[in-house]
Amino acid sequence: MRILSGIQPTGLPHLGNYFGMMRAAIELQEKGEAFYFIADLHALTTVRDPEALRRNSREVAIDFLACGLDPAKACLFRQSDITCIPELAWILSTVTPMGLLERCHSYKDKLAKGLHASLGLFSYPVLMAADILAYDSDVVPVGKDHKQHLEVTRDIAVKINELYGEIFKLPEAMIRDESAAIPGTDGAKMSKSYGNTVELFLEERALKKKIMGIQTDSTPVESPKPIEGSAILGIYKHVASPADYATMEADFLAGGKGYGDFKKSLLSAVRDYFAPMRERREQFSSDPAEVDRILKQGGERASEIAAPVMERLRKAVGLR
Ligand code: ADP
Ligand code: TRP
Repeated sequence: MRILSGIQPTGLPHLGNYFGMMRAAIELQEKGEAFYFIADLHALTTVRDPEALRRNSREVAIDFLACGLDPAKACLFRQSDITCIPELAWILSTVTPMGLLERCHSYKDKLAKGLHASLGLFSYPVLMAADILAYDSDVVPVGKDHKQHLEVTRDIAVKINELYGEIFKLPEAMIRDESAAIPGTDGAKMSKSYGNTVELFLEERALKKKIMGIQTDSTPVESPKPIEGSAILGIYKHVASPADYATMEADFLAGGKGYGDFKKSLLSAVRDYFAPMRERREQFSSDPAEVDRILKQGGERASEIAAPVMERLRKAVGLR
């Protein structure tokens, strides 16, 4: 089984990215041949600061390694190191109906948020299709927000196969439970675009500031607190043991404890959960040459896998 996923280096990974995607990806490295990449070409649709793109690409790689991605098991690479990807995206774009892309929610959402409608933003799903199809991927672990992009990928693959014979494997999305969306500090879905993130490896003061700053209602200390929609509980669920979580939920319902106390418990649970990874992170960040070596080696391996797929396609369409 070949597993593939990517993450954009549009910022530093946060708890939503970790519990929504990175953790599953890391677990899957035991189950098959895993390919995970830093989607720097995709990030170019929104990031305009070259230094930030360079820095975040490296930091995302370091976070992935710190969280347990094992380069001996999973291939970690930069999307832009696989030079056939834009070529593949071009060939795919020639069979992609405009209407298919016009219907994509993520494109419409980004426009609604005021993003400039560039050709790159519009054809974002075609580039994703290239990422997926280039390696004969079987499963793609992604958040629910990418379900439609996987459908577009399959539609494009079917179209190519109809026109030119069996070129592509049809990949399956592996979508986590919808309820798994991690809330941000304001209670909405944690996302870089909402400014409500808690990054994985903040230094102590910054972490404390973010957790203590989680928005809460004005229920008095002595009263029972609503558990539905609580960002504190929503995050705590992932970082605490089931027993500790049950205790906090019971304390919410009982009243008598203030939000400040709950936030302190959450703070120490987040700190403890990521402590071993933080140590590993320090090793990798003090050895940038090793990180570069891992990414380079990963890129070479991914290119080797993509090469025969590309040759198959080039021959089939008449470019060779
Ligand atoms: P962001 O919304 O912060 O820009 P991305 O779009 O870069 O995050 O998402 C990278 C991966 O992390 C995707 O697979 C996405 O589904 C997942 N993800 C992002 N935010 C969350 C969240 N709050 N809960 C669960 N999964 C998430
Ligand atoms: N668009 C994805 C994100 O926002 C990253 C990505 C690019 C991706 N290409 C992919 C994910 C292919 C899965 C498969 O996080």
